[in-house]
Amino acid sequence: MMSANCPSCGQKVVDTMIECPSCGADLHKDPKLWIKKDGDMDAKALEIEGIHKSFGGFHVLKGVTLDVEPHEIVGLIGPNGCGKTTTFNVISGLIPADSGSVKVFGIDATNMKPYQINRIGLSRTFQNTRLWKDMTVLENLLVPPKEQIGFRIRDAILRRKALKEQERELIEKAFSILDFLEISHIAFNYASELSGGQSKLVDLGRVLMSDPKLLLLDEPVAGVAGPLANKVFNKIHELRSRLGISVLIIEHNMDFILRKGVDRVFVMNRGEVLVSGTPLEIKKSRDVIEAYLGE
Ligand SMILES: Nc1ncnc2c1ncn2[C@@H]1O[C@H](COP(=O)(O)OP(=O)(O)OP(=O)(O)O)[C@@H](O)[C@H]1O
Ligand SMILES: [Mg+2]
Repeated sequence: MMSANCPSCGQKVVDTMIECPSCGADLHKDPKLWIKKDGDMDAKALEIEGIHKSFGGFHVLKGVTLDVEPHEIVGLIGPNGCGKTTTFNVISGLIPADSGSVKVFGIDATNMKPYQINRIGLSRTFQNTRLWKDMTVLENLLVPPKEQIGFRIRDAILRRKALKEQERELIEKAFSILDFLEISHIAFNYASELSGGQSKLVDLGRVLMSDPKLLLLDEPVAGVAGPLANKVFNKIHELRSRLGISVLIIEHNMDFILRKGVDRVFVMNRGEVLVSGTPLEIKKSRDVIEAYLGE
């Protein structure tokens, strides 16, 4: 457990506290408070343990435990309805777990809200891409960044110069991300005009605007034609090699994820992790073959 002083009142606080007990300040607002240089290197990017979740009487997650090392690309696979997306929803703070724990870069994120988890470096995409259809691709990328000056009307009027400067920087950043994804030629197209594959790439671009250190991607290539699906996967690998980002990818198609060079794979079935290992180990696993083919 790490300790520090509350940036607001100076009270001694520890990393499991979300709010300062003395002044109520949001302690995870400043990730630098907790992610020390050495700690950052040591901690796993993600560590979830014993996650249980029921909806009504239906036990969807039955003690899910998995981890992602720094700079690792990990696949999460399993048949329809086995609980993959629910696992992501718990990790990203969208729904609370009934029990179990979530740690992101060594920080206890079990009871954090999605925006707090985002501040400590985790971003996710959704299974059904949620772009703003009436906005251009560029505008879709410009909305998410945090702490935009124009957010408050007062600042938009009184800090016009700073606002313009920030806008210029964000547009430059958005174009460098679109260049990296090789889609800058569609920057001014409306999101409603894009193909499924292009939408997936724009969605990836949108989460990159918040400088994530850990990406959770929910079926980033589902419904995407072969060559474009390969391209999305290659870009994910490049993100790791260029920026050191760690990635957890849900993919329904077992053959695809095993072919595309992830470091490790977790296989879920009926709310549990059935087996984990390298793609080679997974290919040989009898349990996996049974879960998928019902043999
Ligand atoms: N909010 C909810 N309320 C009730 N049931 C839910 C809820 N969310 C998920 N479920 C149920 O939990 C089970 C697991 O769903 P989940 O979406 O996590 O599966 P999945 O592994 O992502 O499947 P797919 O491969 O089809 O995307 C399903 O039976 C689903 O109907
Ligand atoms: Mg799903």
